[in-house]
Amino acid sequence: MDKNIVCDAIEYVKTVFKDDYSGHDYFHTLRVYKLATRIAEHENADLLTVQLAALLHDVDDVKLSPETHANKDRAVAFLREHGVSVDMIKTVCEVIDEVSFRGADSVSPKTIEGKCVQDADRLDAIGAIGIARTFAFGGSHKQAIYDPDVKPLLNMSESQYRNHVSTTLNHFYEKLFLLKDMMNTSTAKKLAEERDEYMRGFVAEFLDEWDGNR
Ligand code: ADP
Ligand code: NI
Repeated sequence: MDKNIVCDAIEYVKTVFKDDYSGHDYFHTLRVYKLATRIAEHENADLLTVQLAALLHDVDDVKLSPETHANKDRAVAFLREHGVSVDMIKTVCEVIDEVSFRGADSVSPKTIEGKCVQDADRLDAIGAIGIARTFAFGGSHKQAIYDPDVKPLLNMSESQYRNHVSTTLNHFYEKLFLLKDMMNTSTAKKLAEERDEYMRGFVAEFLDEWDGNR
């Protein structure tokens, strides 16, 4: 395996995500990589597996690269070109497979490495960064900021979650407020609680201002 594989993966994702404005830019991947590393060190997980899966977790995302999603063509090609063993490629791909939020169909990763990467990706969806990413996603998908007549849908299946039309403020109820209780590791749970509280304060203030109470 190439000695500089982690540095090369960082350079690779910089090129893959250079034109993304939907909240999945290069810096999202870099933050997930750093958070996943931090969690993995606390949890004694295999660092290289966690780092490679974190760096490659969105390169074949179903929304960003639907044509390579099923076989993770981009991640697999990168790992092969860097001399990673077949077994390790399989392990990294399994971790990536389990990361994504799928409404009520979300999975809890089988391995500690999967738990670290899923927690890191979810932490980056909440708190101040999460708020910014959510509105960036909403704008790039031509979604309304808020509409009091459109009610949030709870307990959605994966296909409902992927296909229904909603507002960006509803996304807090449909996904973001659920994440705190879906964290796998104690390290991430602690961070999630602080971020969740910050986000709830933001939504309360938003609704007060909307209603003209402030
Ligand atoms: P995952 O990373 O688990 O696959 P997504 O790719 O769906 O989840 O989410 C990535 C980012 O886009 C997150 O910050 C998320 O909250 C935001 N996002 C996803 N769906 C919506 C939506 N319908 N409205 C606003 N933001 C969204
Ligand atoms: Ni992600």
